[in-house]
Amino acid sequence: MDMFVVRGGRRLRGRVRVSGSKNAALPIMASAILADGPNVLHGVPELVDVTTLGQLLSALGVEVTRQPAPVSATDNLPPADPEMQAPDPVDPSGEASVLYPFGLGQPAEDQPGSDFLAPPAPLRLEVQSTGPCVAEYDLVRRMRAGICVLGPLLARRGRACVSLPGGCNIGDRPVDLHLKGLRALGAELRVERGYIIAKAKRLRGARIYLGGAFGSTVTGTCNVMAAATLAEGTTTIEAAACEPEVVDLGTFLNAMGAKITGLGTPFLSIEGVERLSGTEHTIIPDRIEAATLMIASAITRGDVVLDNVCLEHMTAVAEKLAEIGVTLETVGRTARVTVRDELRVADCIMLPYPGVPTDTQAQLMALLAVIPGISIVTDKVFPDRFLHAAELVRMGAQIRREGPSAIVSGVSELSGASVMASDLRASAALVLAALAARGESVVRRIYHLDRGYDRLALKLNDLGAGIVRATDSPEAMPASLAIGAADLWPADEGSHELRGPNWLRARERLRIHQPEVE
Ligand code: EPZ
Repeated sequence: MDMFVVRGGRRLRGRVRVSGSKNAALPIMASAILADGPNVLHGVPELVDVTTLGQLLSALGVEVTRQPAPVSATDNLPPADPEMQAPDPVDPSGEASVLYPFGLGQPAEDQPGSDFLAPPAPLRLEVQSTGPCVAEYDLVRRMRAGICVLGPLLARRGRACVSLPGGCNIGDRPVDLHLKGLRALGAELRVERGYIIAKAKRLRGARIYLGGAFGSTVTGTCNVMAAATLAEGTTTIEAAACEPEVVDLGTFLNAMGAKITGLGTPFLSIEGVERLSGTEHTIIPDRIEAATLMIASAITRGDVVLDNVCLEHMTAVAEKLAEIGVTLETVGRTARVTVRDELRVADCIMLPYPGVPTDTQAQLMALLAVIPGISIVTDKVFPDRFLHAAELVRMGAQIRREGPSAIVSGVSELSGASVMASDLRASAALVLAALAARGESVVRRIYHLDRGYDRLALKLNDLGAGIVRATDSPEAMPASLAIGAADLWPADEGSHELRGPNWLRARERLRIHQPEVE
């Protein structure tokens, strides 16, 4: 298992490109099952969940290949002029300066130096066999979005046997709404031996309400909408999820020949068609990665320009960051993130879109943890998604959980520590906290991060962070995190004479290390 060793206290500076959205790419890839003919997807991020879904789709008879990267304008650019490069992203003077000689508004392609992580090669998906219908537990348990093959399999192949994903560290993740929607379309469904077993001759359009106790369901809406594209007649989904990722799936399906209206609203209308053909589509930018990078800039008091940001998808987050005191300057798909004044505490409530996304809750909490004062963070989507709080406390944060909320009493500084990631966004929050902390930190179990972020450590390092990936082993632990006797009570605390408090501390240490002494 790998871990990150993060050297804290460096201001991030420079330019970075946001990747395509994971949560848009996954249901779109799954919907390739519906098509007669190949689909080509641009901007599918390179991350483990994409690979896992690719394996699942291969097992379901879909050929998934990364095509060689097309020759782009950047390939013919002369090497970057050192005079035009941003200076070393780690600014030893600690003073802010203008680093962006190319201008905020210019597209990334025109900027030498900004494409060290070129957009990934297009992904091509083509159904080779419509026979297989089983999505095995071994793959679905690794990536819950595997459930997104259920609707497409049922609609296109009339049969599906998809593992129930099982437990998750961010709270209960039922799929009752997915099943309710597909049943309403006429599918016969049962759960047996841990699998959803479903069949339907041809799905029939229906009126479906997809609201639940915590709002709508994102992947549930994707599943039902995708299934309804090939149903007989018209389907109406009420309380549909309005997330941009759902809209992106709908846009993709429409490009394949589906007839969906109402995208981005809670009311979807889907007129069933006989067949869908392959198409070419570009995945929307990842709004959660963008928010994570914005918070990385803010928490290090950095100066970072993000390319490929879709700010229309991020109004609530942008407003929250502005309330906290982060400056966002935007031109087109580019945003510069700086901190010019003192940051301020803020209460945050995570809600379904267009609210502040639950997928940014942990990262915002890391930021609020280092802003003195009280902030209250409430997650209305996943009210148990707080495992990161206890790890932040290990770094010196003051956070108390109260039901679906966490009360954050910001401290002026965190201290580096060894912490454990529990899920994807929790991992990102711990990395952000480590960037801001004094000294070195170790973030363990970063396989969570690999699942959902496209080369995050590389991107952060290019901005000046000091992140080293290492195999998790006692030898790889930084010496600075070892609890040695000498550094616990440094000399500047007073004399070493064994009198008063020094004597008490020394005696305490003896008790700990040599219990037999007493
Ligand atoms: C999607 O998960 C995302 N995953 C999650 O991102 C994201 O946190 C979540 O939506 C909310 O925005 C993907 O898109 C692959 P939901 P999903 O169904 O669809 C309850 C990340 O870090 N619910 O919208 O599984 C559920 O318990 C991941 O990238 C039911 O009650 O989430 C939750 O409280 C984590 N019954 C709420 O609805 C159901 O049948 C929203 O869940 C389904 C959900």
